[in-house]
Amino acid sequence: MKRKPGNAGPREIKKDVYYVGAVDWDRRLFDSLIPLPDGTSYNAYLIKGSQKTALIDTVDPAFKDVLLDNLDQLGIKKLDYVIFNHAEPDHSGSIREVLEKYPEAKAFCTEKCKAILMDRFMVPEDKFKTVADKETLPLGGRTLEFIHAPWVHWPETMLTYLQEEKILFPGDFFGSHIATTDMFVRNSGQEFEAAKRYWAEIMMPFRPQIQKNLEKLKPYKLDIIAPSHGPLHDKPEYIIEAYTHWAFDEPGNVVVIPYVSMHGSTRRMVDYLTDALTRKGVTVGRFDLPHSDIGKLAMALVDAATIVIGTPTVLTGPHPAAAYAAVVANAIKPKAKFASIIGSYGWGTKVVDTLSALIPNLKVEIIPPVIIKGYPKEADYDALDKLADSIVEKHKAAGLIK
Ligand code: FEO
Repeated sequence: MKRKPGNAGPREIKKDVYYVGAVDWDRRLFDSLIPLPDGTSYNAYLIKGSQKTALIDTVDPAFKDVLLDNLDQLGIKKLDYVIFNHAEPDHSGSIREVLEKYPEAKAFCTEKCKAILMDRFMVPEDKFKTVADKETLPLGGRTLEFIHAPWVHWPETMLTYLQEEKILFPGDFFGSHIATTDMFVRNSGQEFEAAKRYWAEIMMPFRPQIQKNLEKLKPYKLDIIAPSHGPLHDKPEYIIEAYTHWAFDEPGNVVVIPYVSMHGSTRRMVDYLTDALTRKGVTVGRFDLPHSDIGKLAMALVDAATIVIGTPTVLTGPHPAAAYAAVVANAIKPKAKFASIIGSYGWGTKVVDTLSALIPNLKVEIIPPVIIKGYPKEADYDALDKLADSIVEKHKAAGLIK
C-alpha cells in the first residue's frame, strides 16, 4: 500500500456514517483576518443508505486530495448526492473535483447557496437540486432532513439532520477551529475556548438570527452534533448551553479596554482606570493592541458590558491600532451596553469624533470620554475616578451588579 502521510483516513461515527474530512494542522489565519492558534479542520461526512449514498460538504480546495482519498478508501464508486450546507469555499471549494469524479451526483442546497456556488465555482445549473425548509431525502433506511438556517454563517446556510441516528450536521454552527486527532470533544477546556473564539468571530455578528435558529432546533433530539470545523459533540448539551448563554443572556460586570500607547500617557491612564474598576469589583480585560491576539479581544467582548478604547492622538486621529480594534468591534457586534474613550494628545485631537464614527453598529450609550493633554495629572486621575464611578453606576442600573 502506498503511504500518504497527512491523512489518518476515514473514521466511522456510527455504522455507515463516516468522517471523511481533513485536519489542517498548519493554518494560522482565516479569511486573511482571523488568527487560528490551534489550526482547524474541514469536516465532511459520508452517509450510506441501503439505496443511496450522500456526502455532506466537501473540504477546503487545498485538501481535496484528502477527501477524494477517503472516499476511495471507503470504496465509494458512486455518489448520489452531495449536500452543501454552506457555500463558503472552506466547505464547498472541492465541488468541481467531487462532481467530476462522481458525475452522476446531484448537488443539494438552498436556492441562495446554488446561486453562490454557480457564481464562485462556475458549476452548471443542471447539477443542482434546491431544497425547501424541512424537506427530506430518503437514502434507504436513513433519512436526511434539511433545515434552513440563514446566517450561520452566510445568508444561504442550512443544517442537515440524519433523523434515524439523531445526528445534526450544522455546517459552521457549533464549530471550533481546532486541529486534533480526537474525533469527539475530549479536551473540553481547549474546546470551550476555541468554540467561544469561533462564536465571537463568526457567529456573534448574527446574534438575532442565531437566537431564532436556536429556537428552531429545540424540537430536535440531538445525540451528536457534527459541525464542519473541529471535533464533534457527542455530549451536545454543553455547546447548546454555551450558545444559548452567549446568544441570549445579558453581558457580565465586565469592562474591556483595548488600548495602545506610544509614550506612556495612555498606558498610565489604563493602569489607573484598571485599578479603580478592580477596587470596585468590576472585572477588567486589557488588550495592549500591538501585542494582542485579536481573537482573544473578540472573546472578551462576548462578556463585556462596557468597552473603553484607549488611544493616543496620531496626526489628530486615533492610533491606527485603536481604529482597527474599533472597526473589529463594530463588525462583530458584541452585546456591550456602554462605551467610552480615554487617551492623550500633545497639541490637538479629534480622536473622540473619529472613533465614535467607527462604531455605528454598537448599540451603546457613550459615557463621557477622558482625553487629556500630555501626561496624566491630579485632575486627570479625578476624571478617571469619575469615569469608573459612572461605569459602576451604569452596570448597577442595568442589573449587572447584584
Ligand atoms: Fe467554515 Fe463559513 O465557513
